[in-house]
Amino acid sequence: MRPLTIIGNWKMNGSLESNQALIQSILSLGVSEFAKNSKAQVALCVPYPYLPQVSHLLNQSSIAWGAQDVSDHPNGAYTGDVSAKMLQDFGCRYVIVGHSERRQFHQEGDGLVARKAKATLQANMTPIICVGETESEHDDGKTLVVVRRQLQAVLDLLQGQIASCIIAYEPVWAIGTGKVPSPQQAQDVHRELRLQLAKFDDEAASKVAILYGGSLKPDNAKDLLAMPDIDGGLVGGASLNAEDFLALCQASQ
Ligand code: PGA
Repeated sequence: MRPLTIIGNWKMNGSLESNQALIQSILSLGVSEFAKNSKAQVALCVPYPYLPQVSHLLNQSSIAWGAQDVSDHPNGAYTGDVSAKMLQDFGCRYVIVGHSERRQFHQEGDGLVARKAKATLQANMTPIICVGETESEHDDGKTLVVVRRQLQAVLDLLQGQIASCIIAYEPVWAIGTGKVPSPQQAQDVHRELRLQLAKFDDEAASKVAILYGGSLKPDNAKDLLAMPDIDGGLVGGASLNAEDFLALCQASQ
């Protein structure tokens, strides 16, 4: 049985003051106790500058923290980049790689995303590897072709290490739009991703958490999270509201 995994992705939002208030609400509503008692993996992926603040505020809790990107290089002349080792210094447990906003606005390709996942694993953190089709790819019926290609690049590079990764299926047309695939449509893609993993490594396929992301909200989470191959969520907007974040954690119960 795979544990429920709920990862908040704050994207480029927050301030010292608002982060403090949000985390205090998340803690006082009992999200940490929920994670502890249900053995769910719950984490917040925050902008780089707030890692020290968030690691301090969550230190005594059962909520982990992570980053939203990482360099594929270990160190050196890469102005503006942040290495996996630096993130590990702050106790990060997770790193989102290949988010569609990185693929779209920073031209990150499948090969680079795979190398970022590898760098994350080498620093003993868990990469959350995002895959997903754009709206036009969806309309053209290319969803499975696209997500298979994105996952295959990672499988080719990581080989046996895939068991230590998390995959997130995020249809680009669903991110921040309020549109969501039906639970069965999402399940079909998750199933396909798991079959692809199984062809590669049967045991890993049964262990790897495949999260759904894209306008996941308290009112649609229950049906999506009830699907057999949807193991949790990568949550953008709703992770910025403590009540919604708690409701999402509880939605699968
Ligand atoms: P959203 O974002 O929940 O705001 O749609 C999800 C994501 O981009 O990870």
